[in-house]
Amino acid sequence: MSNNSLDNKQKSWSGRFSEPVAELVKKYTASVNFDKRLAEFDIQGSLAHAHMLGQQDIISKNDVAAIEKGLAEILAEIQAGTFEWLLDLEDVHLNIEKRLTDKIGDAGKRLHTGRSRNDQVATDVRLWLRATTDDILVGIKNLQLSILDLAEQHADTIMPGFTHLQVAQPVTFGHHLMAYFEMLKRDAARFADCRKRINHLPLGAAALAGTSYPIDRDMVAKTLGFDGVCENSLDAVSDKDFAIEFSAASAILMTHLSRFSEELILWSSPRFAFIDIADRFCTGSSIMPQKKNPDVPELVRGKTGRVNGHLVALLTLMKGQPLAYNKDNQEDKEPLFDTADTVLVTLAIYADMLRGIAVNKTNMRQAALEGFATATDLADYLVKKGMAFRDAHEVVALAVKHGVQQGCDLADLPLSELQKFSAMINEDVYQVLTLEGSVASRNHIGGTAPTQVKLAIARARKLLS
Ligand code: ARG
Repeated sequence: MSNNSLDNKQKSWSGRFSEPVAELVKKYTASVNFDKRLAEFDIQGSLAHAHMLGQQDIISKNDVAAIEKGLAEILAEIQAGTFEWLLDLEDVHLNIEKRLTDKIGDAGKRLHTGRSRNDQVATDVRLWLRATTDDILVGIKNLQLSILDLAEQHADTIMPGFTHLQVAQPVTFGHHLMAYFEMLKRDAARFADCRKRINHLPLGAAALAGTSYPIDRDMVAKTLGFDGVCENSLDAVSDKDFAIEFSAASAILMTHLSRFSEELILWSSPRFAFIDIADRFCTGSSIMPQKKNPDVPELVRGKTGRVNGHLVALLTLMKGQPLAYNKDNQEDKEPLFDTADTVLVTLAIYADMLRGIAVNKTNMRQAALEGFATATDLADYLVKKGMAFRDAHEVVALAVKHGVQQGCDLADLPLSELQKFSAMINEDVYQVLTLEGSVASRNHIGGTAPTQVKLAIARARKLLS
């Protein structure tokens, strides 16, 4: 970043000023350090605008050709890393415009006809966010495929299902994983829906009120692939709903991955020992040689905090702003960029990490056996024999208490012992007290039976194909 001072005449708004901007103010107000990231989209928007100006005879065809050539060269310079960004030129828009004018002279100065940086930046951000949203949708799909592969391998692997983090009822690991597939399905739908509102064109709103030139906004919208134009100029230059929605969708997605991470952390701890996360996703301790820390899931959980924070930052940014554009709006970019970067890298690393998970079926099964996980099944068994559910609940509670005292599970109690709690209990009770019998009996859409898990996976694969 160069800090060369331009004289006042070279700056696009300095004619009315009698003294240069203070150094610190220049640094405080410039956005080029971060918004240069929008360069490619700024050029796309400028090209579409220039073509429209030419088409409408607002500027000459020669000017359009010169602008096109100049912007192509500038794009190449930016991509090659040779473009010199000047802090004095404030932002990405003025940097590119100044370079264009240096290259092609007056034609460059005509590019800004009928346009303001206010509708220009709003357009750039939408173009960038649309592309980013598409990348995120691909990232979500890859993660979903990764979940499906793991769930398929474990459609009938039994583990304890938890409520209150206490063993509740047996479930299959595949079923548990498919819960996250559902969350991601909703996340994808949220991003796709948000994309519809991103995809409208602000250009033409100019500073705030529209422009007196005979512009063709529909033409620009079509060139840039927008579904339509923003229909009120004041709203067009000040609307951040689409960015807030994007951040909200990101925060919800990260919150899902944070919950998943919390489970991976618990399951990989030696206390649970349900899974092993591949070494390439873990680190050791510099002092305790025995440690293998689940850094990746811990960081996902941690980074959820910053993404959630960015959502609050954007909401707070907007809450006090009168119409239309205010400089406050410049503050939307860093939270948005960081949100997108965090979400994209998290999705990629997560899909990879799930492929490196080894499952300890024996430990999962053992944990399900130890927690009276089939107590509900015994109650349901008694209900099916004619007992009222509340009575059955009490009978089983007493049987569990007895089991706890004896230090054994319900399935380990001999029939004669079980019959002390209810004469309705017969030899066939052991079928419902097994883990396999328990999960297999929950055989309806949404249930944990292996058959249902396989059907859910098949539906999911069809959805993604
Ligand atoms: N850098 C500014 C932003 O991101 C561009 C728009 C500036 N417009 C203005 N009138 N100062 O919002």
